[in-house]
Amino acid sequence: MALGASASASTGAAPRERLLMDFGWRFHLGNEWGVGQSLAKAGTGFGPAGATFSDASWRRIDLPHDWAVELPFDPTADGAHGFKALGEKFPQNSVGWYRRTFTLPAADAGRRLWLEFDGVFRDCTVFVNGWAVGQHESGYGSFRYDITDVANCGGKNVVAVRVDASQFEGWFYEGAGIYRHVWLVKTAPLAIAPDGVFVFSRFPNNGPAEIHLATRVANAASAAADTMVTWEIVAPGGETVASAQQSTTVDAAESVELEQTVNLDAPKLWSPETPRLYKLVTTVASGGETIDRGETEFGVRTVGFDAEKGFLLNGKPYALKGTCNHQDHAGVGAALPDALQYFRIAKLKEMGANAYRTSHNPPTPELLEACDRLGMLVMDENRLLGSDALHLGWLEELVRRDRNHPSVAIWSLGNEEFSVQRTPSGGRTAATMQDLVRRVDPTRPVTCNADMGNEFAGINTVIEVRGWSYHIGKDNMDAYHAAHPAQPNVGSEQGSTVGTRGIYAKDEVRGYVSAYDDNKTEWSTTAEEWVSFFATRPWLSGGFVWTGFDYRGEPTPYGWPCINSHFGILDTCGFPKDNFWYYESWWTQQAVLHLLPHWNWAGREGWEIDVRALSNCDEVELLLNGRSLGRQAMPRDGELKWKVPYAPGALAAKGFKAGTLVAETKVETTGAPAAVRLAPDRATIHADGEDVAVIAVSVLDEQGRVVPTAANHVSFELDGPGRIVGVGNGDPSCHEPDVFVAESPLRTRPIDGWHWRKIADANAASLPEAKPEFDDSGWEKVDVNAGSGPLGRREHAVFRARFTISTEDLTAPAIELWFGKIEGGGPVFLNGKKIGDAGDSRAASVYDVKALLRPGENTVAVAITNWGDTAGVNNGVKLRLVSETPAVQWSRSVFNGLAQVLVKASKQGGAIKLTARADGLKSAIVVIGAVAAEPRPAVPDETNDEIAAR
Ligand code: GAL
Repeated sequence: MALGASASASTGAAPRERLLMDFGWRFHLGNEWGVGQSLAKAGTGFGPAGATFSDASWRRIDLPHDWAVELPFDPTADGAHGFKALGEKFPQNSVGWYRRTFTLPAADAGRRLWLEFDGVFRDCTVFVNGWAVGQHESGYGSFRYDITDVANCGGKNVVAVRVDASQFEGWFYEGAGIYRHVWLVKTAPLAIAPDGVFVFSRFPNNGPAEIHLATRVANAASAAADTMVTWEIVAPGGETVASAQQSTTVDAAESVELEQTVNLDAPKLWSPETPRLYKLVTTVASGGETIDRGETEFGVRTVGFDAEKGFLLNGKPYALKGTCNHQDHAGVGAALPDALQYFRIAKLKEMGANAYRTSHNPPTPELLEACDRLGMLVMDENRLLGSDALHLGWLEELVRRDRNHPSVAIWSLGNEEFSVQRTPSGGRTAATMQDLVRRVDPTRPVTCNADMGNEFAGINTVIEVRGWSYHIGKDNMDAYHAAHPAQPNVGSEQGSTVGTRGIYAKDEVRGYVSAYDDNKTEWSTTAEEWVSFFATRPWLSGGFVWTGFDYRGEPTPYGWPCINSHFGILDTCGFPKDNFWYYESWWTQQAVLHLLPHWNWAGREGWEIDVRALSNCDEVELLLNGRSLGRQAMPRDGELKWKVPYAPGALAAKGFKAGTLVAETKVETTGAPAAVRLAPDRATIHADGEDVAVIAVSVLDEQGRVVPTAANHVSFELDGPGRIVGVGNGDPSCHEPDVFVAESPLRTRPIDGWHWRKIADANAASLPEAKPEFDDSGWEKVDVNAGSGPLGRREHAVFRARFTISTEDLTAPAIELWFGKIEGGGPVFLNGKKIGDAGDSRAASVYDVKALLRPGENTVAVAITNWGDTAGVNNGVKLRLVSETPAVQWSRSVFNGLAQVLVKASKQGGAIKLTARADGLKSAIVVIGAVAAEPRPAVPDETNDEIAAR
């Protein structure tokens, strides 16, 4: 029994392939084709959902892609979402279609094929070869569809994804489109189940670690199969340190979980300071052959909370120095290349942060990978509270997907559910969710961010770790802790300080707030207020600042023209605001000394300037143009202030620890803007088609100092194997584009002179009437621009027309045959060859015909059957000639001296040269080396030409 099954379980191909499917997509914004799905008959997706639809005139894009960032700002749009012309009020901008054509080798027959989406904003329907294979709601979960039955092994396949971003989920910028990676996964029928590996460690008293291994094996074959699972643990140094094995039989269409525990004597523990990763290699064998193999990175560490000591990492108290963050970054919106996740996590670490809350939604898996590898604890947050099947399903998927990441330290069930958090039903719902989380992951604590004070009601009565959203103070936190001494606490959301980078006075017209640590909303605190309160209360476990980075939307405290938040410690580009040094002072051990504001106050000579020093030195001395303005002792978790009459020159500070000079800094009055500088975050990047260089643009004076008030407009040009994917400057009120998008212009030619004749059967095996040489001279003329008809009920007919095309026109990169509407069903022919079936009677049918056209005369024929009321060729027929995509000019103004350019590598090595020019300034050139690198295994990127030639 088992032998026969294991023979079918093996295909002889590589055990498992996971191919990145990011490259070579086509994108169209618009809802011309409705839902694309026919609920009447299988495999008959219409419009772009259909297999023969032409997307040759659509824009070529690579994923990740966020079309919201491409849309204009509009003062009538939703401010919370960043005033982008998106959502219900803008139906023309809120539905997008993506298509991707790919070939599957014949050898894939018999394997299980899955399409995996890391996340799509928002509701989407996925079609493969005209079949609807799945629908997913919510913009934040990962999902996958088994496409084995509808895939065409040994031929072409097309995936079409309709994305509807009309509805928002959050109250912040959320993006739109396939903004995370897509994967094609191929396995044997008997294989590790999706998210089927779970590895975790326990080591009481920090002794030898017990490593718990669990693997679910799923059998999609129609007979039972024997299986042997082997686990091998590879230490950070590369040596195999433990292994185990177990076997069982898996019934047809069933799955079985196998478990083992192994011991590690002297484990190398994972922590943010020592992000050491082990690797679990899981192999599945059947019939003596290896049929699946998976690698799982994990860390040996434990997490927990104690009601008095607070958060515990590896059994020891560990204060959380966290930030809450949304997903978006300057330039790219929500569609972050992986390199940017690493860039952002590294910036937060530089400031001393050790924790990250994925507010208010499941993150992309690559963010967690960056946190695992760089060392950052994560509060992994579910989107919405709910214990119905749909919401529990999303929660379970999140926990299953993320439970191997050592970075993930705590689950959050949700955020500020103010309508229900105090109610008994809110409490019951949270309890059901918490129970589910514990079943799927018994190793991590659970919290929920509650904007409640000293209130033991609803969610707070059931939740393992009380999450505090603001409500700082003795009456709230201290009183609550005294009344509920057994419940651990965490400052899951604190701060919400507002400030604009490089601004030192309120400006209500432009929508700026000063960057001094003085500005907060009525519900929140300054950095100093919350940090000093928490510092004396270890039982609070530390907290998460709202927010690490500025994000689009929630333009607090102003509305339009402000389009993004001011809460960040860093702006949307990752340029630090002054509070960065406040946190660095109290969150790191190294000597920090920073002065604010800048020292360019021409015209204000003699005015008193509010000068502050951010530092962790014991004492700081301030000097203006060499003259001491006094030495002050730094209060713990505080800052120092001076009033300094302005005189141009240099304002300097000296920092002392135990009487010894340990740090010096200065701000200087600069000259006028004289030059542009480009500074990449790395000198070389990988030529893998994915890596990104983050390039800081600054405007300098003659002496090479950044001019802190500069606002010059800079334009960019790129030569070499890379491309600019986004620009930004961190200005919360800037309405300049983050991306410059070029659409390929279309030239259209009407095809007129149609004739028609009734025939016996439009679907006959041979249709001589479709052949170019067929004599149609006696046929009746028909106007295809009319509204409907002319074919009667149950009648069949062929419609024909001839047109000519020149050799020159045939050089167009793509040519489409476009029918305004074909009512009724039947095949469509060009020069006697079938090019597809009539698409949809509601919208245009479009065919890619370049490969079939010939110079001179061509013949188009449509065979139609009228199964309904009216049928015919209507609303015009056109030839659409697609032109080369024009080049675009990228540009961005600097904001207070700085801007950012994101440059993505191609898969070719070489020198990427970026030039920046600004009127009247010396231009800058930077060369980034794209170094040959093995790209991740990917679905081959078939060009439009190859597709047309099929
Ligand atoms: C909180 C909320 C966040 C953000 C923040 C602004 O109440 O959880 O999403 O809106 O306020 O201060």
